[in-house]
Amino acid sequence: MKAAVLNEFGSVEKFEILDVPTPKPGLDEVLVKVMATSVNPLDFQVRRGDYKNELQLPVITGHDVSGVIVEIGAGVKNFKVGDEVYYTPEIFNGQGSYAEYHVAKEAIIGIKPKNVSHLEAATFPLAAGTAWEMLYTRAQLKINQTILIHGGAGGVGIPTIQMAKAMGAVVYTTARAVHHDFLKGLGADHVIDYEKEDYIDAILKLTNNQGVDVVIDTIGGNTLADSGKILSQLGQVVTIVDIEKPQNLIHAWGKNATYHFVFTRQSRNKLDELTKLIEDGKLKPVLNKVFPLSEIGKAHSLLEFKEGDKNFYGKIGIQIGDF
Ligand SMILES: NC(=O)c1ccc[n+]([C@@H]2O[C@H](COP(=O)([O-])OP(=O)(O)OC[C@H]3O[C@@H](n4cnc5c(N)ncnc54)[C@H](OP(=O)(O)O)[C@@H]3O)[C@@H](O)[C@H]2O)c1
Repeated sequence: MKAAVLNEFGSVEKFEILDVPTPKPGLDEVLVKVMATSVNPLDFQVRRGDYKNELQLPVITGHDVSGVIVEIGAGVKNFKVGDEVYYTPEIFNGQGSYAEYHVAKEAIIGIKPKNVSHLEAATFPLAAGTAWEMLYTRAQLKINQTILIHGGAGGVGIPTIQMAKAMGAVVYTTARAVHHDFLKGLGADHVIDYEKEDYIDAILKLTNNQGVDVVIDTIGGNTLADSGKILSQLGQVVTIVDIEKPQNLIHAWGKNATYHFVFTRQSRNKLDELTKLIEDGKLKPVLNKVFPLSEIGKAHSLLEFKEGDKNFYGKIGIQIGDF
């Protein structure tokens, strides 16, 4: 099979499209013909070598699959050949999705939503799966609660906004001005221009100094410390980014706050819940650009450096199957 292989970590030029052996499914595994994948920051972090201690070269990265099962292990109970599935491959364990075929344990795959294409389905598992964990299992967002979602126009921000609205919350989000109309169309109640406004002042003003019930941190920096200044009593912060430096949480202490640290985990249950939201029309794909696997380097340059489109937002799809 063809795959985008990294024999070294580094720049986008390190990707090589090579012929590699097609993997064989084990007892509780399925072999999937990958029709599409998508690009996440984790992919360029892996390519750069940020996780070189977790991985052994050569590496095939990629964290979203949408495809068709072509072979099953003898112990597989819940899937059959021909099923269309989507999932995130196990992170830092085995081959990723930048390849024509992928093997996965049946426990981590889900039936693909019927109302979206493979390219659209591949935008969801990692990004929307993380959003689901943040809102449903961790913050357990309630109707009429207020939430600030940082990085609203990003791969994770977009499904987080859609789900928070579906849960009945009042949504504040941060983004550059060029994305405000799009985010309002997505359902955001208030969009703050993070380049021109101090979001702390903006949230305090918008909430009459009450603060928000939940802050979603997709951007890092001082967000963990600063969130304490804009939380309501018993507020919660959910973060999905590395903590670059020690943070002073004194303001959060005064608010009796709770912090959740999320490193996304794979499960079929989560994908089944996403499928319901997608098929109900509550979660829609925002697929803004598609590349063939042979142009994976260009796709990384677009997401990592905004090369070719300074105002890019949403997800990049990678077409793999011949459909
Ligand atoms: N822990 C986990 O399980 C997990 C899972 C998924 C993702 N992540 C991490 O979460 C982060 C976001 O992922 P993603 O897929 O959403 O990335 P993305 O698609 O690149 O989006 C990032 C967004 O953040 C915006 N942004 C940058 N600086 C900002 C600031 N100061 N204030 C507000 N918005 C800002 C960007 O806007 P501009 O276009 O204006 O720069 C962009 O819209 C990445 O670091 C990723 O590695 C972690």
